[in-house]
Amino acid sequence: MTEAILLVGGKGTRLRPLTVNTPKPMVPAAGVPFLTHQLARARAAGVDHIVLATSYLAEVFEPYFGDGSRLGLHLEYVTEVQPLGTGGAIRNVAPRLRSGPDEPVLIFNGDILTGLDIGALVHEHESTGADVSLHLSRVEDPRAFGLVPTDGTGRVTAFLEKPQTPEEIVTDQINAGAYVFRRSVIDTIPTGRPVSVERETFPGLLADGAHLQGMVDSTYWLDLGTPQAFVRGSADLVMGRAPSPAVPGRRGERLVLPSAEVAADAKLTAGTVIGEHARVGEGARVTGSAVLDGAVIEPGAVVTDSLIGRGARVGARTVLTGAVIGDGAQVGADNELREGVRIWCDATIPDASIRFSSDQ
Ligand code: GTP
Repeated sequence: MTEAILLVGGKGTRLRPLTVNTPKPMVPAAGVPFLTHQLARARAAGVDHIVLATSYLAEVFEPYFGDGSRLGLHLEYVTEVQPLGTGGAIRNVAPRLRSGPDEPVLIFNGDILTGLDIGALVHEHESTGADVSLHLSRVEDPRAFGLVPTDGTGRVTAFLEKPQTPEEIVTDQINAGAYVFRRSVIDTIPTGRPVSVERETFPGLLADGAHLQGMVDSTYWLDLGTPQAFVRGSADLVMGRAPSPAVPGRRGERLVLPSAEVAADAKLTAGTVIGEHARVGEGARVTGSAVLDGAVIEPGAVVTDSLIGRGARVGARTVLTGAVIGDGAQVGADNELREGVRIWCDATIPDASIRFSSDQ
């Protein structure tokens, strides 16, 4: 059995306003808090002890997951008084680890949806004798990520954060946010101050001659940090494109949680999820979207690739495309909101007040 640390303390600024009341790992994807999918996947790979490194809105994790026994896990929670960054968070939970100095400890970012073969990463780590092993993914546009070039044996040769110029883009391999650390390496991270594992720990280890191993796994991989990515990840889980043992229902075009009410002629497609006690009215069309608990889609509304927050209301005939509606917000009837719009929690938009096209 292996143990793991899950980093779940970030502020999730790119996902606001959905992260105003809820930390990113607790925002529901395919009907359950996103973190459930990661915990279930780790369990399925043989992990039995997980320490959650919390900071932002730390108090909401334990009441939901408890001691983890429901998922067959032993969960512990450690909260930072001040956010310590990714590396500082890892170091801060070290006293809770049970592994011996040479044993492997898994570390996961709390916002990655992936089909990574976790067992294969641990195996790669042990067979190469690396100090740290990293899951690397290949992406078409690596500019938003940390690049990790490797040599012919998979050994990491550099860390290049958020490259911009063509000369800096030396590989399409990016840091995919899952690592195996030799336990004793965790103990070398400085205590009591913020440390970035990506910007400080990894480059520092490399400069000191440590062995960092990269394992390219080109399975499903998505960073759910932005609203567009989050809603796509949720839809991919519903449709079975992204693997998770924790989706509460059969895979298909839609997932409607048991207490939701959906009008018989409403059309739900492309991985749409309708949360507990949410309602969808007559003739509404909801495509590739996540409608969170208690939200209401009124008759004739057309919602595409959008995230509708808890208890929010989308008025009759309103058209939303690529929109994020915060918890409790009220969007009146006959509005049209397009790509990138973020309506803040509890805001009110009157009937027929915003359009991008004629109302005739
Ligand atoms: P943005 O603000 O939108 O960039 O999101 P974020 O705050 O989650 O940051 P980022 O995506 O870079 O974080 C990667 C992972 O590390 C996420 O799972 C975060 O929850 C986690 N994380 C980031 N900073 C901290 C921190 O200071 N403490 C802890 N415990 N976790 C952190």
